[in-house]
Amino acid sequence: MGHRTAPHRRPHRTPPHTERGGTAVTAADQARDDAVEAALGKLDLDAKTRLLAGQDMWSLPALPEIGLGSLVMSDGPIGVRGVRWTADDPSVALPSPTALAASWDPDLARRAGRLLAQEARRKGVHVLLAPTVNLHRSPLGGRHFECYSEDPYLTGAIGTGYVQGVQDGGIATTVKHFAGNDAETERFTVDNAIAPRPLRELYLAPFEAIVRGARPWGVMTAYNQVNGTTMTEHRQLVNGVLRGEWGFDGCNVSDWTAARSTTGCLEGGLDVAMPGPVTVYGPALAAAVRAGEADGAAVDGAVRNVLRLAARAGLLEGAPAAVTEPPAPLDGAALARELAVRGFVLLRNECAALPLDRSSGRTVALIGAAARDARVLGGGSATVFPERVVSPLDGLTAALPEGALTYAVGADPSEEPAPAAQGFELRAVCRDASGAVLGEGGLPSGQVQWIGEDLPEGASYETLASVEITGTFLPRESGEHVFGTRGLGAFRLAVGGRTLWEGVQGMGDEADPFEAFFGTPRERARAVLAAGEPVGVSLTYQVPDMAGMPLKAVLFSLLHLGPRRDPEELIEEAVRAARAADTAVVVVATTERVESEGFDRGGLGLPGRQDDLVRAVAAANPHTVVVVNAGSPVELPWREDVAAVLLTWFPGQEGGAALADVLLGDAEPGGRLPTTWPACLADAPVTEVVPREGRLEYREGLLIGYRAYEAHGVRPAYPFGHGLGYTAWAYESLEATAESVRVRLTNTGPRPGREVVQVYLAPVADPVERPASWLAGFAGVEAGPGESVEVDIPLPGRAFEVWDEEAYGWRRIGGGYEVRAGHSYADIRLTATLHL
Ligand code: BGC
Repeated sequence: MGHRTAPHRRPHRTPPHTERGGTAVTAADQARDDAVEAALGKLDLDAKTRLLAGQDMWSLPALPEIGLGSLVMSDGPIGVRGVRWTADDPSVALPSPTALAASWDPDLARRAGRLLAQEARRKGVHVLLAPTVNLHRSPLGGRHFECYSEDPYLTGAIGTGYVQGVQDGGIATTVKHFAGNDAETERFTVDNAIAPRPLRELYLAPFEAIVRGARPWGVMTAYNQVNGTTMTEHRQLVNGVLRGEWGFDGCNVSDWTAARSTTGCLEGGLDVAMPGPVTVYGPALAAAVRAGEADGAAVDGAVRNVLRLAARAGLLEGAPAAVTEPPAPLDGAALARELAVRGFVLLRNECAALPLDRSSGRTVALIGAAARDARVLGGGSATVFPERVVSPLDGLTAALPEGALTYAVGADPSEEPAPAAQGFELRAVCRDASGAVLGEGGLPSGQVQWIGEDLPEGASYETLASVEITGTFLPRESGEHVFGTRGLGAFRLAVGGRTLWEGVQGMGDEADPFEAFFGTPRERARAVLAAGEPVGVSLTYQVPDMAGMPLKAVLFSLLHLGPRRDPEELIEEAVRAARAADTAVVVVATTERVESEGFDRGGLGLPGRQDDLVRAVAAANPHTVVVVNAGSPVELPWREDVAAVLLTWFPGQEGGAALADVLLGDAEPGGRLPTTWPACLADAPVTEVVPREGRLEYREGLLIGYRAYEAHGVRPAYPFGHGLGYTAWAYESLEATAESVRVRLTNTGPRPGREVVQVYLAPVADPVERPASWLAGFAGVEAGPGESVEVDIPLPGRAFEVWDEEAYGWRRIGGGYEVRAGHSYADIRLTATLHL
C-alpha cells in the first residue's frame, strides 16, 4: 500500500482561548493585546505618528521608551535580500513563485516559508515582503513569474502554506499586492475596473483564503486603483472587506511610495507608509490630527496594528512572541534543489526520451547561452544575491562521466549589453569632491543600486561626489567587446587604461524615471580584447546633488556584451555538436529585458534566434530535449518536433543540479502547470494590459486562464494542471459528497512516483453564469510501482458559491454537478455526479 505525502509537524502553540474574526484567540494573543494596549497608552501623538512611517528604506523607528525594537522589512518572495541591494551578505535563492506553485504542494510551500524565516532571522529581518498572490490574468504581466497561478484556489492554497511556513519561524509576511496588481503598465496610477463577481471570485479570493487560513501578520496594499480608488486609500476593501469581513488583525503596509495622501490613507485603513524618511505619515500626520483633519482614534488603531505585529515578531518587551522556538534549521541549498525538482514541469516526453539513458559511452551535447550563464531568478524587487549559482553546464558536468558532455552556445538571447558579470571582478569606490576615497563596496556585477542607506561605509550623500566601478575583466572570447552604461548623469568609461567615452545621459524622452534608471541600456564604446588576457575597466559616475530629494539613491550600471559572432555560424556549430552526440539538450531562456518588474511583456516569443536554433538542432538529432528557462509562458512553435520539453522556470540557485537530477532520472520532475500555456499570444484570453486614459477594464469578467480557453473553444499548447512524470497512473474509483472526494489510483509504471490528483466541478445546467468547470481541490499522492493509494480531498464550501453583490454575500448554487478527477484540466480520468 502506498502512502500520502507526510503531514508536517506544527511548532508548539498555546491552546485556543476564545474566538475572534472566525479564528481561535489564544491566551498568548490576549497577553500580547494587553501589552500592546499598555504600550500604546504611553505614547504621545508624535511618537505614534513616527511609528507609522518608515525611518528609512526598510525599517520603522525603535521606541525605547516602550521597549519597542525597530521592525525591519525585506523582499521576498524567493529569498531574503536584507536591507542592502548588494551581494555583501548573500541569500539563498529559491525557485520562482511560478515554480513553487507548479509543485501543487502547500506543505512544500510551507517548508520554503520556514527556510525564508530562517534566512530572515539570520539577516535581522522581521517582516518578509511576500508572498505575491496577484493572478496570472495575462501572460504579458511583467511580474507573472512572481505570482503563483491563473487559478485563485491554487494561489490561495500555495500562499497559505507559504505564509504559515514563514510565520512558523516567527517572521511576519505581507501578502501582496492587495489588490488587482496583475500587470505593470502605469502600475502606480492605473485604475483597474473590476466587476464585483470577478473581484470577489478571482482577485480577492487568494487574499481571503490566506487571511482565513494562515492569519497573516501583514498585508501590502498595491500601487494601483480598483474601481476608482487607489488601494492605499481603499476604505471599502481594506477596512470593510479585509478587516471587517475576513477578520484580518495584522498590519497594512503600503507598497513602496504608494501612500500619497495623509488623511486619505488614514481613512482608507493604511497603517504604515513606506519607505521613509519622508512620507505622508510621521510629522504630516501629527499636524493633520492637531489641525482636526485626521482622526486621533484612527491613528491609535494603526499604531495598535503595528505594535501587534512587533509583538508577534518578538520586538515588544513584555509581550509574548508568537514563536518562541523556531523550527529545526533547514539546509538552504538542499531545499532549493528539492524545490526546483518538484517545480519542473515535463511538458512533453515522446517515446520516453527522458530520463536519459545513463549507460556508459552515451554523450550529451548541451546547447544554449542560458545553459552556461543560467538565469535563476526574475528581476526587480524579487532579486537576491545568492552565494553560488549552479548552471545547467555546472550541474551536468558534475553528474556525467568525463568526456560525455560537450557545450555550444548556439544562440545568444541577449542582443543588448547587460550589467557586466561573467569574467568581471568589480568593486565600487566612493570619493568626495577633492577625489579623496570615502569608502568602498563589493559588487557582484556592474550594477550599482544603492537606495537610501545602502551606501558603503564611510560615504554619505552629503560628501559623496563620484562613484567609480573599477576592477578587471577576463574575456572568455576574443574579439570586439561592447561596453555601455545605464543611468542618468555624467560618466567616464575606460578600458585597459584608455578613456573610451565621456559624456552625459539626460532624461531624454523617457517619461518614466524608473525606465531611465533600470531600462534602456546604452552602448558607449567597443574594444578589441583577447580571450584569457585580463584588462582593467573603470566607469566613473558623477553623483548629482540630491539635497532636498525625499529618497536618495545612486543607480547606474557598467554594461557589457561579448563579441557578436555570426548567428548562422553559431547555429551550425550547435548542429554539428548535436549530430555528434546521442542526445542534444537545448536550454532556451528569456532575459531580464523580457521578464522583470516595472514593465509588461510585449510578446511571448523567445528572444534572439533561439527558435531557429531549436529547429536546426531537432532536425539534426531526433533525441533533442528542450529545457525552457523562463518564469512565464513563452511560445514554443517547434514543440511537436522535439523529443521532450522540460520547463524549469527560474529555477533558483541550485537549478543546474536539479536539472541533472531530473534529466538523468535520479528524481522525477514533480510539477504541474499552474497556468495554461498558450500556443501563441493571440490565443491567450487576455492580451490587453495597457490602460486607456489611465483605466484598464477587466472586460473578460470571470473568464481568465483555463476558464476562458474552455469558453472560447481555444486549445492551448499545454492545459492547466498538465505535467508528466516518469511513471503512469490508473485512476480506479471516485466517490464524491458535497464535502469531499475519495479517489483511488494505482501506480502502473516501472518506478515510484508522485501524482497530483486534481478535482474539478462542472455544473450541470447551470442556473447562474459560471465557467464550464473550475478547480475545487487537489492532493499529492506517492506510490511505488504496482502500489495503490487512496486519497480524500476536501471540497471547500466556497467551490459551490458565487458572489451576489445585490445581497452582498455568497450564495450557494444548488443543482447537479459533475465531479471530475484527473491528471489535468484536459485529462479527466473519472467522473461522478452530485446533487446539492
Ligand atoms: C514592489 C514591492 C516591493 C517593494 C520593495 C515595490 O516596487 O512593488 O513588491 O516589496 O517595491 O522593494
